Amino acid sequence: MADVQKKLIVVLGATGNQGGAVARRFLQDPQYAVRGLTRNVSSPAAQALRELGAEVVAAELDDVESLKKAFKGANLIFSVTQYWEPFFRPDCRAKAEELGITCRKYAYDVEVQQGKNIADAAATVVDTLVDNGFLVSTLSSARKCSKGKFQDLYHFDSKADVFPDYVVPKYPELAAKMSCIHTGFFTTSHNILPDSYFAKQSDGSFQMRFPCNPDKLVPQLDVNRDTGNFVYAVSQMPPGKAYMAGEYLSFRDWAAAWGRVTGATIEYKEVTIDEMVAETPDKACGLEVALMYSYSSDPGYDGGMELLTAEDIQKVRTSPAFFGLQMWKKNTDQINLGGHRLPDHDGGGISGKAGLFQVFQQIKREQYQVASNDKIKQ
Ligand SMILES: NC(=O)c1ccc[n+]([C@@H]2O[C@H](COP(=O)([O-])OP(=O)(O)OC[C@H]3O[C@@H](n4cnc5c(N)ncnc54)[C@H](OP(=O)(O)O)[C@@H]3O)[C@@H](O)[C@H]2O)c1
Repeated sequence: MADVQKKLIVVLGATGNQGGAVARRFLQDPQYAVRGLTRNVSSPAAQALRELGAEVVAAELDDVESLKKAFKGANLIFSVTQYWEPFFRPDCRAKAEELGITCRKYAYDVEVQQGKNIADAAATVVDTLVDNGFLVSTLSSARKCSKGKFQDLYHFDSKADVFPDYVVPKYPELAAKMSCIHTGFFTTSHNILPDSYFAKQSDGSFQMRFPCNPDKLVPQLDVNRDTGNFVYAVSQMPPGKAYMAGEYLSFRDWAAAWGRVTGATIEYKEVTIDEMVAETPDKACGLEVALMYSYSSDPGYDGGMELLTAEDIQKVRTSPAFFGLQMWKKNTDQINLGGHRLPDHDGGGISGKAGLFQVFQQIKREQYQVASNDKIKQ
């Protein structure tokens, strides 16, 4: 097929987890040309993307003109913003101090402005976008969904305050072409919070410790694989809907799955927000994530919103081949955590190497309550 007939998807964050997965998935379909955006077109990640067939273009989220240029000719845009970079960067910490605000609020301000820049630039190419051409990664509004209880869960509100809250009133035409894709807890999050996921006890056993109800179902996402499959599937749906990319699982079951696969003894312990902050080396980070776990407990990570899931999409799509479930079953990841490594032997009837994600799937099959067809109205 000649290039001119291809649909062009412009992918923000294409060198990162979410955007990288999206870029790689669309590159598998010859109907699409992929333009990946990055600040550094010579980085190894940018080079790898180019080798896979993507056009790699420089753009800066703080510079709306660079985004307008990079979006030229786009038929689809995938948008993602990164709260944690301005949160952790030493120069940003220094700026926050200068401004007399916390690094949590500073990163909120940066992410909101970057999200607005994306929307402002996307609005200039709305005419070339297909009907469901603005695919945005976001999270629920903690402030609104908790009815004001969570006033400063910044990395949730910094996304929701733009996608959809800024876009809908300001750019109705763009909003009509938008799908909001909420992303679950990355299944790689244990890398960031090893002491909370796997707190080693004096008797050699482990505790998973979060300020979250042990039995509350929270969505988990294999970000580097399933974001691509999920966003690709969403692109084939009608516009204007909101989704959860992730599979619902309680932390008690998460811990139990890990214990079954590794052979380690682990229990889940619900702790307070203060306890989690005390146990996290970077206190500001401790507070931001502790609030997230508490919010995930009540009203819920999704804020109690009615979000469509992979299963909902499968009901109206004829081919299920897009979905993460297939990928997860084949997953051969190993987890090396807390001094424990997945055993190579068979763990409780489940292939040891593939382990954790297969266990997730098994639990999910037992637990999953099929969502109502009513949620999808074409
Ligand atoms: N961890 C979790 O469990 C979890 C769950 C749900 C949602 N999230 C959210 O996921 C987001 C991060 O997504 P991710 O993991 O995909 O991020 P990531 O892997 O760190 O990638 C960030 C991408 O954004 C690009 N980028 C960053 N700042 C930029 C700027 N100023 N201008 C242009 N491009 C820029 C980077 O490109 P270059 O560096 O190449 O320029 C990179 O491609 C966060 O906002 C977080 O809140 C996380």
